[in-house]
Amino acid sequence: MLEMKKSYPKDMLSLLEWSKAEIEELIQLALEMKTNPKHFSHALSGKILGLIFDKPSTRTRVSFEAGMLQLGGQAIMMNGKELQLGRGEPIADTAKVLSSYIDALMIRTFSHEEVEALAEHATIPVINGLTDLHHPCQALADLLTMYEWKDDLTNVKVAFIGDGNNVCHSLLLICALMGITIHFAIPDAYQIDATILEKAHQLAAESGAEIVVTADPVKAVTDADFIYTDVWTSMGQEKENQTRMGIFYPTYQVNTALAAYAKPDYKFLHCLPAHREEEVTAEIIDGEHSVCWQQAENRLHAQKALLQLVLQH
Ligand code: CP
Ligand code: NVA
Repeated sequence: MLEMKKSYPKDMLSLLEWSKAEIEELIQLALEMKTNPKHFSHALSGKILGLIFDKPSTRTRVSFEAGMLQLGGQAIMMNGKELQLGRGEPIADTAKVLSSYIDALMIRTFSHEEVEALAEHATIPVINGLTDLHHPCQALADLLTMYEWKDDLTNVKVAFIGDGNNVCHSLLLICALMGITIHFAIPDAYQIDATILEKAHQLAAESGAEIVVTADPVKAVTDADFIYTDVWTSMGQEKENQTRMGIFYPTYQVNTALAAYAKPDYKFLHCLPAHREEEVTAEIIDGEHSVCWQQAENRLHAQKALLQLVLQH
């Protein structure tokens, strides 16, 4: 059983609040919770998690709610539009008031700055359930899934093919933090945020991760242990769909021809939801190399560990 440290960072906003050692402890705890869930069934008894959604969700919503119930706590769902926040009540006021009712808050919204402001004014832990810039809870599940396949992640190559979006940013940061080599194939028009890339290079200098950004999917995928992709059009970008399709298709599609360049036992990852025959073919996502269902399940275990660590103090 993991020896609990006295305290962990209050918030999970971009992963950058957490050290490599703290993320390793979280992953260990997630593995323990996955193996022996009953042992933790009263871990968060009496605790309440609030969930605010300004965008749709299946995995994040249900895994947080179910996770909280499995830990003996409770969850309250809030639609952002139905809160006074949606009518202009200041974030600081909302943060102060919610802090007096509940024990932790998860939010999925558009602006990352808004989530940072919420965390600054809340006395309770704030968890980012996806913003336009980051998706840290997804990256925790991604890391857990890769650990389950490879004991030593410092010897693997991850290839991300597609849009330089929220999922891409969080995957980059977690790989940079943990010392995992990652190569990206991203078209020029949809590159990784420059500030996040710079931060990742700083982390990589300490962890030994190799970060390579190219526009060539074949280069990125060659000898990869994991191939990762996400949708080309994220929530809130629907009007750009046609333009994006014109740029990404067919060069950035993960299909059998591209995957042939990876290691013979490569694993395919996708945060889901997926658009078959756009960023990935059905043959790949429903094929023998795909571990995206395991990855989706791991959202539950990784987030339960996160909740346990941020709510223990
Ligand atoms: N991967 C993910 O965050 O899925 P949802 O949008 O369904 O929560
Ligand atoms: N990049 C996607 C991820 C969905 C989980 C989006 O933001 O819509």
